[in-house]
Amino acid sequence: MIAARVRSYWLPLLNCKQDSDVSNGNSGIKKWIRIEFILALLLLLLATIITNITPAKHALIENWPFSFRFSVIATWNQPNVAIQVWSGLAVLVLAAVILQLGRLRNWEIKRLIFIPAILFISGGAIALQALTIQAYPETYRRPPVPFDVISVAHGATLFAQHCVECHGLQGMGNGIKSRTLSTKLPDLLIEPHTVEHTPGDFYNWITNGMVNTDMPGYIDKLSDEDRWDLINYIHALSRGYQARILTPEIVPNKAYVKPPVFSYQGHDGSSGTLQEYRENKAVLMVVFSWPQSISRLEQLKQAYGRLKEQNVMLLAVPDKDLAVEDMKQLVAKELPFPIVTQGAAEIATSFALSRRTLSHPDIIGRGTTPDHMEFLIDRKGYLRARWIPSVDHSGWSDIDQLNLQINALNREKMNIPFPEDFVR
Ligand code: HEC
Repeated sequence: MIAARVRSYWLPLLNCKQDSDVSNGNSGIKKWIRIEFILALLLLLLATIITNITPAKHALIENWPFSFRFSVIATWNQPNVAIQVWSGLAVLVLAAVILQLGRLRNWEIKRLIFIPAILFISGGAIALQALTIQAYPETYRRPPVPFDVISVAHGATLFAQHCVECHGLQGMGNGIKSRTLSTKLPDLLIEPHTVEHTPGDFYNWITNGMVNTDMPGYIDKLSDEDRWDLINYIHALSRGYQARILTPEIVPNKAYVKPPVFSYQGHDGSSGTLQEYRENKAVLMVVFSWPQSISRLEQLKQAYGRLKEQNVMLLAVPDKDLAVEDMKQLVAKELPFPIVTQGAAEIATSFALSRRTLSHPDIIGRGTTPDHMEFLIDRKGYLRARWIPSVDHSGWSDIDQLNLQINALNREKMNIPFPEDFVR
C-alpha cells in the first residue's frame, strides 16, 4: 500500500513545474520510505521473536491449550476446503482494495476503517475455519520411543493382538468386525493418515478412544510405551507402503523412504547400529531365509572383495532366529560379512513392511513375506533401492547391476538431513 501510494501520489509530484510541488514530493517520499524501513525492522524483530518461541523453537508442548489447530495438510483434500480458503483470501484482497478505493474517494474515517475491517475479519474467519481441525492436549507431544525396529516389531505384535479384528490384518480397515461398526474405519495402510495427523493425535486416540465411534481407548489395557510402539508401527506400515515405488535401481538424488533404525550383533562378534554408517558407508541389507538363500549368500561371498572396495557395509539378516544347528551350518560357510544374531527377527519383520512393489502391492489378507529381500540404504540413512528375487527377477543376481547402484550412491552429494530419530 505504501508503494502504491508513493507511486500514484508522490512520484508524479517530482515531475511538476513548480518547485514547491517537487520539494513536497521529495519530503513525502522520504517520509514513506522511513516508515517502510521501520516496518521492515519491526517485521524482522517479529520474525526473530516468533522463531524463538514454541512451536517454532522445537520445545516440548506438553499440553496444547486449545481444542483446535490449523493444518493445511490435514484438511486440504477434504471437500470444499480449497474453495473456502480461496474465497476467504479473495475477501481479504477485497478488503484491501476497498480501503484503497475509500482513500482515493476521501471517505470519512469511520467508514474507511469499518467496512474494510469487517471484510478483513470475515475473510480471515472463512479461510481459517476451513483449515481448522480438532486438537487435543497431547497433539504436540513428542514420542518418547525412537523409531527403531524393536518398537516397530513390538507394535506389530500388539496390533495383531488388539487391533486387527476391526482394522484388518494390514490396517486397511477391513477386519472381521469392521462391517458391524457404526463408523467407517480408516485405511491406515494406503491413505496418508500418518502425514495428516501428529503422533500426539494418534496417542490421544489410542489412549482415550475416539468419542462417538467404536474406536476403544487402551489406557487400561496397554502401557504408555506399548501405545507409542503401536504409533511407530502405524508409521512403519504407511512408510512401507510408500516404499512400493522402490526398484532394484536407485533414482539419483531422490531420497525419502525413512527406514526404522536398529542395533545388531553379528555372529563374528561384531556389533553396531545402522546410524553409525551414516555419512561414510552405504549399507546393503540382505534379509535371507535359511537354507533357501544359500546360493545367493555364496555369490555375495565371492563378490565381497569388490563390494568392500566400494565402501559398502553388508549385513546379512536371517528372517527369523535361527536354530543352533542351522547357525552352525551357516557359520561353516565362512561368510566374510556379519550374520546378524541379536535383533534379526525384529529387523526382518520391520523391513518386510517395505516388501510391496508396484506390480505386487500385496494388500490381500495377511500379505506374504518374500523368502529373500535385499535393501540398499544410502549414506544419509534413506532406503534407496530394493531387490526381491521372487518379484523383480534377475536384478542384483547380476553383481554388476548391484555395483552400478552402489557406485551411483557413492557419487551422490546430497545435502539433506538424516531421517529423524522419532516419528513426526
Ligand atoms: C472395535 C473396533 C476397533 C478396535 C478393536 C480398534 N479400533 Fe481403531 N478405530 C476404530 C474405528 C471405528 C475408527 C474410526 C473412528 C472414526 O473416525 O469414525 C478407528 C480409528 C482409529 C485410528 C484413527 C485413524 C485416523 O487417522 O483417523 C487409529 C490410529 C486407530 N483406530 C488405532 C487403533 C489401534 C492401534 C488399535 C489397537 C490397539 C485399534 N485402533 C483398535 C475401531 C477399532
